[in-house]
Order: sequence, then structure tokens, then C-alpha cells
Amino acid sequence: MKIALIGYGAMGKLIDQLAVERRHKVPVVIEGTDAGLSAAELAGKLEGVAAVIDFTVAAAVRRNVEACMIAQVPVVVGTTGWLDQKADIEKLVSDAGGALVYGANFSIGVNLFYKIAAYAAELFAKFPEYEAFIDEQHHSRKKDAPSGTALKIEEIVSSKLFGEDADEGVRVPIAATRAGNIPGTHRVGFDGPADQILLTHTARSREGFALGAVMAAEWIVGKKGFFDFTDVVSETLKR
Ligand SMILES: NC(=O)c1ccc[n+]([C@@H]2O[C@H](COP(=O)([O-])OP(=O)(O)OC[C@H]3O[C@@H](n4cnc5c(N)ncnc54)[C@H](OP(=O)(O)O)[C@@H]3O)[C@@H](O)[C@H]2O)c1
Repeated sequence: MKIALIGYGAMGKLIDQLAVERRHKVPVVIEGTDAGLSAAELAGKLEGVAAVIDFTVAAAVRRNVEACMIAQVPVVVGTTGWLDQKADIEKLVSDAGGALVYGANFSIGVNLFYKIAAYAAELFAKFPEYEAFIDEQHHSRKKDAPSGTALKIEEIVSSKLFGEDADEGVRVPIAATRAGNIPGTHRVGFDGPADQILLTHTARSREGFALGAVMAAEWIVGKKGFFDFTDVVSETLKR
């Protein structure tokens, strides 16, 4: 199928390669130099593609989604750091009767890690002497901190540990480090009076994210709604 890429940085380039390996075509690439285009102008460039994949910056996501809705093309949003606008963007998609799948992390391993962290937190919820913590590390070019993945893990673990109190502001602490070329490491720890359990997910390269994004694009064609990539993984687990 024909896929348009918005953003042609580290992730965009990798997705281009992988999409072609999976026999897709990438006839449209929108780069940072197109940042000044309006949503309507951008929509004009997206006509004729089956799906769009966005890996840009948080500030560009609203315009990019609006353009996809005008062009009536489903969109995969890999960009992180925009969840403060989630309600607004979800409304944009639902008003247009369109389709969007987003994910703080498109790696299959991380999406399984979410489930493992949820189960661990469910066990530790019965033993309040253990306190949870989250630790994430990424390369120094990454702009948002903590990572979207760390925030998602925090949401999952806090809701299991604290239930409704999590809504009142009782949260698991997150430490974020930006250094060197680290593709992405996330840890969830449970520290007790005499021992500690540490769960770690280590990305070895960005290819896992790129593959998940292309799989999400293949999955969303023909659907309507606002989806989290965990929905794509959960559907596979049910099969
Ligand atoms: N969900 C996941 O699995 C996952 C995995 C990895 C990364 N990410 C996220 O994906 C995003 C991109 O990551 P990256 O490593 O590819 O970053 P990157 O190498 O900095 O690439 C971002 C690209 O977007 C371009 N851009 C900026 N504004 C734009 C606009 N308005 N229209 C079109 N292009 C625009 C930039 O161009 P200029 O350089 O010319 O400004 C740059 O080429 C980040 O938010 C990152 O956190 C998500």
C-alpha cells in the first residue's frame, strides 16, 4: 500500500526502509522544511495514500492529524510529548469520522512489558512495604522527558498500586536520564525492606519501533476510531 511519512529524521528514515522491505510504497515524504504548511495545504499532499505515519515533534502533531482528517487518511502517530492535547485531537478524529492509532512506544516487547508491569504491580499492591519506582534512559537528542513510555508505565503501575488514590495525585516516581546514544531503556522496580525486584526492557535498536509503526499502519486501514497501539497488540494476543 502507499504510505506517506511526516517527519524524516531518525525514525522516518528507518520506517521508509522497513515499509519498502514489506512491499509498501512511500510516495510522499513531508520534512521539517514543510513545517510552515497549513493543515489544508498538507492535506493536498496526502491525497491518494492509504495511511500516514507521523514521527515529528509534539508541536506539529495537531496540524498533521488535522491534515490527515481533511484528506480522509488514517494516521499512525509515533511522535511523543503531545498527550496534553489528547482530548482535543481525539475530538478532531471523532468529528471527522477518521482513524488514528498512537503509541508512546511501538515496540512489541514494550507493549508486552506493560502487561508484565501491570501484573507485577497487582501482586505488590497487596504488600505496601514495597515501594515502586520507574527509571528511563534515552539518547541525548530526545526532547521530551520523562519519555511517553515511562509515563504510560507509571499510569499502569500507579493505577494498580493506588487505585482511585492515583487520581488524587499519589504517583510512582520517575527518574529520566538523557545521555549518549541509548535507544531506550525502561525499568520498573519494587523495593522492599530486605530485597528489590527490578524489571527491565532494553531496546537494542530503533528497528522495533519502526516495525511496530508499519504494522500499525497496516492494521488501521479500513478502521474508524482513536486507538492505542496496545489495542493492536491485545488483538494479536486474543487470536
Ligand atoms: N512511539 C515510538 O515508538 C517512538 C520511537 C522513537 C521515537 N519516537 C518519537 O518520535 C519523534 C521523532 O523521533 P526521531 O528520533 O525520528 O526524531 P528526529 O530524528 O529529531 O526527527 C524528527 C523529524 O521531524 C521533522 N519535523 C519537525 N517538525 C516537522 C513538521 N512540522 N513537519 C514535518 N516534519 C517535521 C524534523 O525535521 P527538522 O530536523 O528539519 O526540524 C526531523 O527530521 C519524537 O517525538 C520521539 O520521541 C517515538
